Amino acid sequence: MKTDETVIANLQTTCAVLSHMKEQFTIHKLALCSMDLDWLAHRVHCWHKKASHHERIFIKRLLYYGADPEFVCGSVKKLDDVESVLNDCLSMSASALAQFTSFRKQAWEALADYTTDRYEHVIEDMEKISFKAQRELNLINDLGQPGYVGARLEDGK
Ligand SMILES: [Fe+2]
Repeated sequence: MKTDETVIANLQTTCAVLSHMKEQFTIHKLALCSMDLDWLAHRVHCWHKKASHHERIFIKRLLYYGADPEFVCGSVKKLDDVESVLNDCLSMSASALAQFTSFRKQAWEALADYTTDRYEHVIEDMEKISFKAQRELNLINDLGQPGYVGARLEDGK
């Protein structure tokens, strides 16, 4: 099956973004574990699994169009406090959301096939991650970082 070159380039970028998120979520999860924030570490692990799931789906899309996957994950980092970790989760998911929304539209305009549906599903998960990361950040804003950590220290044990 053939499609537009723009769609292929977008699929490569999509895989790179999801692959980066997948690895970065793992590092954030381990950092949160070392801070003893088990409930949040578990949630970030679920986000890692979602990114990994969608990455596999988009790699299969590339293969379906006869294109070799050619993408790089990019560099990752370790952050040392919960607010920085959540801000990074929010910025990754919000920027992926904006990018995938535009890729979905371009995929639809090029060829209204199943690719658009695949984008719809990843967009739904990016919305959820952004919403949940923002909600935790709002709690930190209300309670202060020590209050937030103290309030939920036993959750997820
Ligand atoms: Fe669907």
